Amino acid sequence: MKVAVLFGGTSEERDVSLASGGQIIQALRVAGHEVLAIDTARGFLSAPEVEALIAAKVDPLPPDEKALATMQNQALAIANAPDLAAVDVVMLALHGGSGEDGSVQAFLKMLGIPYTGSGHRGSAVAMDKDMSKHLLRAAGVPTAEWLMAPASAEQVENALGFPVVVKPNKQGSTVGLTIVREPGLLESAIAEANKYDDEVMIERFIAGRELTVGILDGQALAVGEIRPLNAEIFDYASKYQAGGAEEIFPAPLSAELTLEVQRLGVLTHRALKLDCYSRVDFRLTDDDQLYCLEANTLPGMTATSLLPQSAAAVGISFTELCERICRLAIE
Ligand code: DAL
Ligand code: MG
Repeated sequence: MKVAVLFGGTSEERDVSLASGGQIIQALRVAGHEVLAIDTARGFLSAPEVEALIAAKVDPLPPDEKALATMQNQALAIANAPDLAAVDVVMLALHGGSGEDGSVQAFLKMLGIPYTGSGHRGSAVAMDKDMSKHLLRAAGVPTAEWLMAPASAEQVENALGFPVVVKPNKQGSTVGLTIVREPGLLESAIAEANKYDDEVMIERFIAGRELTVGILDGQALAVGEIRPLNAEIFDYASKYQAGGAEEIFPAPLSAELTLEVQRLGVLTHRALKLDCYSRVDFRLTDDDQLYCLEANTLPGMTATSLLPQSAAAVGISFTELCERICRLAIE
């Protein structure tokens, strides 16, 4: 196949996307595919730049360069990449922002170029946690009760009770998220989340174990458990620092609970109208209640990220996973 891998961008998850992009490019190249590399913030990569990306040696994006990488310039960087019209498929290794919220997907659709993952509609829905939760509730997938800001501490106390989780409505990787235990700290947590999104969600905090399941071509892969080592939740540091969390695939759960996570994962994927693949995250309480946290339409894609681990546990290698994701987009 001839594949263009899109990564980078200007979202809060740019660094994660550089890691996903480098590893996907490496895997597809080793498997004999022709690969073009496009950082939507910087444009088409030369051969030495691709080597630097694979070696994880890319200079950070300085603020002036970030300011120049407007939505319009990112669209031009994609459309003007040499040879783009000749590729079989665009593989998306973008995370967050316009790369995951349906914008890039709609643009590629208009260019007539097949791309991996969910379409623009499912991407937009899954990126919006409030909209997702309405659809999950309608589909019978349990999810924690929530309110949208503005809400007073009294309203939150009455509707949800403390502690609550305050987070930007459309953001990944737990950026801008705070667990609020006391009414007096609600306002500052909302202000923090507001730095990333004008919509802020306030959700009942569910204590429990953190589970995840990959979905590929409509089927659930292995369920995994994440045990953050030094944090109460799977926050940005525990997600991306080596040794930040223990990740166990398959999760040590009863067969019954494993099947239930897989069933709810597939139901979530369908309820949000997702395609091709996703990763769905859950909490499991001490009394075995499952709550869906969210679906990720472009989950982390390094060889040791959660979705690739979920696939590896059922015998699908990282390379095979990348190839299957590409083929699903072309079929
Ligand atoms: N948003 C990050 C990349 C994930 O879900 O894996
Ligand atoms: Mg996420």
